[in-house]
Parts: sequence; structure tokens; C-alpha cells
Amino acid sequence: MSPQHLRLDPVQETLLLTLYARALDSKAPTPILGDTLAAAVADRIAEDTGYDFAKLKPKPSLVASTALRARRIDDVIRRFTTAHPDAVVVDLGCGLDTRSTRCAPPAGVDWYDVDFPEVADLRRRYLPDRSHLVAADVTEPDWSRALPDDRPAVVVAEGLLPFLPGDSFRTAIRRLTTRLPAGELVLNGYTRFAAWAMKYHPSIKALGIDAAQGFDDPREPEHWNAGLTLVAEQLLTRAPEVAAFPQPVRALTRLIAHSTALSRQGTRILHYRF
Ligand SMILES: C[S@@+](CC[C@H](N)C(=O)[O-])C[C@H]1O[C@@H](n2cnc3c(N)ncnc32)[C@H](O)[C@@H]1O
Repeated sequence: MSPQHLRLDPVQETLLLTLYARALDSKAPTPILGDTLAAAVADRIAEDTGYDFAKLKPKPSLVASTALRARRIDDVIRRFTTAHPDAVVVDLGCGLDTRSTRCAPPAGVDWYDVDFPEVADLRRRYLPDRSHLVAADVTEPDWSRALPDDRPAVVVAEGLLPFLPGDSFRTAIRRLTTRLPAGELVLNGYTRFAAWAMKYHPSIKALGIDAAQGFDDPREPEHWNAGLTLVAEQLLTRAPEVAAFPQPVRALTRLIAHSTALSRQGTRILHYRF
């Protein structure tokens, strides 16, 4: 398979950036997430297709924050699936994330990974696991019929929000919280400014993407008519794991941590109940 045979459009290609960031973290002296499977998958893709991961130019800050946000989202899922061993997990825009392996949920949990058909094909090839794979555009109305509607559910949207145009993120979430009886939603938030500024990020620039969506107030989703209530907003500049960030990223992150407004422009985890 040559790189063009990966057949990914630029938005889909962002999954290789997050995969690569987790792969690099796993090779760091003090990994934050330690996802060695991500590294194995990235190596296999590079071998099979000649894909040049280095062209994505992930900065040390991106590697550290991607690993940390994944770790915090995994914590939410582990807690939820421990409390509800019959739960449904729905990972929207899953890319090639190895989350179900990392979280190792109880046997009674049904895990649904959702992404475009091109990405689902890649997942089948590089990450065959026991999760249900839904090949769909999450903004389409019908795919959620594949989900059981009588069990507690935790919905994840990591790295997805900025790529969904207009109101389509909130519409997709509203559809899900209407179908699913009760549960939680966890995502990494982007402020409007952070989403806008993403297009100047060297890695995103390398992929030629400029569409970007975000919201500032963590309580805004409570007004989406989706039955969401904010459980917590975690500002990751204040996480203890920052101690493992490489310098000078660590020093800068600790400086930013003094300001809530500036910390919100960085990585934050938003957690809701519905
Ligand atoms: C930055 S990647 C994140 C992937 C994964 N969540 C991770 O953390 O590695 C964004 C992902 O969202 C997916 N995506 C974007 N828009 C989508 C849509 N409308 N429907 C389904 N997936 C979508 C892309 O294909 C890509 O896999």
C-alpha cells in the first residue's frame, strides 16, 4: 500500500497525527499514556505504506497534551464501565485509537467505534479487536440505530469537535442523548479561539485543514437541548502529570496554569451527564 492508497482526506488524516503523538509518548523516557500498541500500529502503517509520519511535525507540547487528554478520557470511561458493567461505550471519530484495549472494559460492555468508512477499513486492517465498528459519518441521522437503546452509555468525542461544521456536532450529540436512555459524554474541549488558531498549528497546516469549531463556556452544551449537565471541566495545565512533560513545555504549562482563561485555551476535558 502506498501513502496515496491510505485514501484518507485531510480531516481523516488527522487520526495519524493523534496516533503518532501517542506512539511518540510511549517511546518517551517518562510516558504519560504509555500506549505501546499505538507505536506498533504506527510502525506497521509506515512499513506497509511508506507514510511519512515525520511530516506531521508534532511538537513536544502536542505529544504530551495528546497523551494526557487520552489518559483523562480513559479514566472517565473506566469509572463508568466499572460502575455499569453492562454499559455501551460509543467512541465518535475513533480514528485508530486503541482506547478499548487501554480501557479493557468488563466483558458485559459493548464498545462501538464510529468513523468514516475509509477509516473503518483501516481499523479492520490494523486494529482488529472485539469492538463493534460502525462505518458512518457521525453527522448523518441513521447510524445511531446500530446502538442498543436500553443500556447506560458513555459517549466519547476526542479530537472531533473542531472538524464538524456548523451546528453538526451539537445535532449529533442531541440525537445520541435522545436515543440513549442515560449516561455521560466526555470530550476534549476547544475554545472558539483555540479552534480558529488550530489552522496555524504546523501539524494541521501540514494537512491543509482550516475548518474549526469550538465553544468557550463549558456550560454551553447545557443549552443544546440535549439534556446535558456539566459534571466537570478539567484544565489539564493543572494536572499532576505535567511533572512528566519535557522542558521547556513543563515550565510554560505551569506558568499558564495560573490563569484559568489561558488554561482554557489549552487542553481541557469536558464531562457531562445526560
Ligand atoms: C483528530 S482525529 C481523532 C481520532 C481519535 N479520536 C484519536 O484521538 O486518535 C479526528 C477523527 O474524527 C473523524 N471524523 C471527523 N469528522 C467525522 C465525521 N463527520 N464522522 C465520523 N468521523 C469523523 C476523522 O475521520 C478522524 O478519525
